[in-house]
Amino acid sequence: MASGEWVFDDQVADRFEDMLSRSIPDLPQLRRIISDVAQALVPFGGVVVDHGCSLGQTLDSLAGFGRELYGFDKSTAMVDRAKTQMAGRARIAHLDLVTGKPEHPPADLTSFVFTLQFIAEQERVGILARALAASKPGSLLIVAEKVTTASQELAPVLTGVYHERKHQAGYTWPQIEAKAASLAGVLRPLTARENEEAIEAAGWSKPECIWRSLNFAAWAAVAPAR
Ligand SMILES: C[S@@+](CC[C@H](N)C(=O)[O-])C[C@H]1O[C@@H](n2cnc3c(N)ncnc32)[C@H](O)[C@@H]1O
Repeated sequence: MASGEWVFDDQVADRFEDMLSRSIPDLPQLRRIISDVAQALVPFGGVVVDHGCSLGQTLDSLAGFGRELYGFDKSTAMVDRAKTQMAGRARIAHLDLVTGKPEHPPADLTSFVFTLQFIAEQERVGILARALAASKPGSLLIVAEKVTTASQELAPVLTGVYHERKHQAGYTWPQIEAKAASLAGVLRPLTARENEEAIEAAGWSKPECIWRSLNFAAWAAVAPAR
């Protein structure tokens, strides 16, 4: 397990798929729900834009139906691997969402899957608003985030259950503690309500929660008519 502050470097990128599947409870269900909702709302040949695409797993789950796929990420290690893994299927570009503008045709599906949590809180509404401006009216937004528990009584319980799940997935207790320490201050989760408020403040429709597992949640929203 890496020591020090968390970074998306070569070491993390090399074992990212395994890490993600052991760290996010019920991730296959989330991938399936995103794919099913996209199937209902994204037209054949639609444009899918994934922000913080890492290795391209979300894009991979949305490939097919003639869709045009675009992925952006600020980690060079992730982008290099995503370009190889998604070669010929998706256009992957290196980009910091805080300072750069993703270049793509107007989106039918815009996604941020466990990405905004790594970006400073004050930047999130602006990034979501810029994504809205780059999407078609009526198009779909998907946001997935780790969330903090508003209830002080339940917070330690949910964290405990989550850590127990990670232990059952094969991580030792020192590994679990080291990763939590490494992510502190780098992964900055909000409450579910704060995430919903950020999506609405950016101009998207009122979001609906489409998935929740312990302290992880995902929402769908729609770009209003202009
Ligand atoms: C947990 S991973 C995302 C997983 C991925 N969306 C998936 O579905 O498999 C978070 C990603 O966000 C990227 N990221 C963090 N801050 C970013 C920023 N400011 N601009 C672009 N990408 C960023 C990281 O490099 C990392 O690859």
